[in-house]
Amino acid sequence: MIIKKTFDEIEKMRRAGKLAAQLLNHLEPYVREGVTTLYLNDLSAVFTRMHGAISAPLNYRGFPKSICTSVNNVVCHGIPTEKEILKNGDIVNIDVTVILDGFHGDTSRTFIIGEVKSDVRDFVQRTEKAMYKGIEAIKPGNYLYEVGRAVEKYTGKFGYSIVRDYTGHGIGRKFHEEPSVFHHFTKENKIILRQGMIFTVEPMINMGSSHKVRTSRKDGWTVTTADGSLSAQFEHTILVTDSGGEILTTAPKA
Ligand code: MF3
Ligand code: CO
Ligand code: CO
Repeated sequence: MIIKKTFDEIEKMRRAGKLAAQLLNHLEPYVREGVTTLYLNDLSAVFTRMHGAISAPLNYRGFPKSICTSVNNVVCHGIPTEKEILKNGDIVNIDVTVILDGFHGDTSRTFIIGEVKSDVRDFVQRTEKAMYKGIEAIKPGNYLYEVGRAVEKYTGKFGYSIVRDYTGHGIGRKFHEEPSVFHHFTKENKIILRQGMIFTVEPMINMGSSHKVRTSRKDGWTVTTADGSLSAQFEHTILVTDSGGEILTTAPKA
């Protein structure tokens, strides 16, 4: 069942979404060469607490940290560690989810550390654009599969591949609710969008030609590309309004 949110629930989702975006804005200046992913985790935990919220990933199905940090060929669910020091030329996705007043805000961005080759810069920028193409396809009365269709239409031009094993998701009182939101075109998403639905759009794009991924047998979480290519991701939490998709995970900078 897809839960349509009430006016009051939507207001709480707006607040949670804004706080998640503020957290990423807060982290941004620290996401640079020499910083450990554990440091970014700890900054996140403190910021979230200070704002009266909870870090949703911590202990979620046994996840051991407060945010996900996914570097280079890591697709998603990277675990922050003290050993992982960001270096020039890395790309890192930081995925944060906060619970404020019982409701979740979920957002991520991929950051570039120092200088990368122009093909990598293009790849990261196009992944962000792919997310926005998906968001722009959201209209009440449209099928949800228009999101995946739009992401695929845009991404296909570049020879990249769209991860299929992980999807966006409904979100609200629960971190992951129905529906699954595919980022490629599939009839599985033949679901009519209605005002008041809230879900994430979070395409994971591999720079190589394979969408295949593997999960670490060591930690049970870290997902990497099967071919070792880079992977990037951006994520927003979106409300279906009477006219389109409203991004809930934004906050003015400074
Ligand atoms: N934030 C991720 C998402 O976008 C989920 C992370 S689950 C965790 O759905 F357990 F790894 F935190
Ligand atoms: Co997320
Ligand atoms: Co999500």
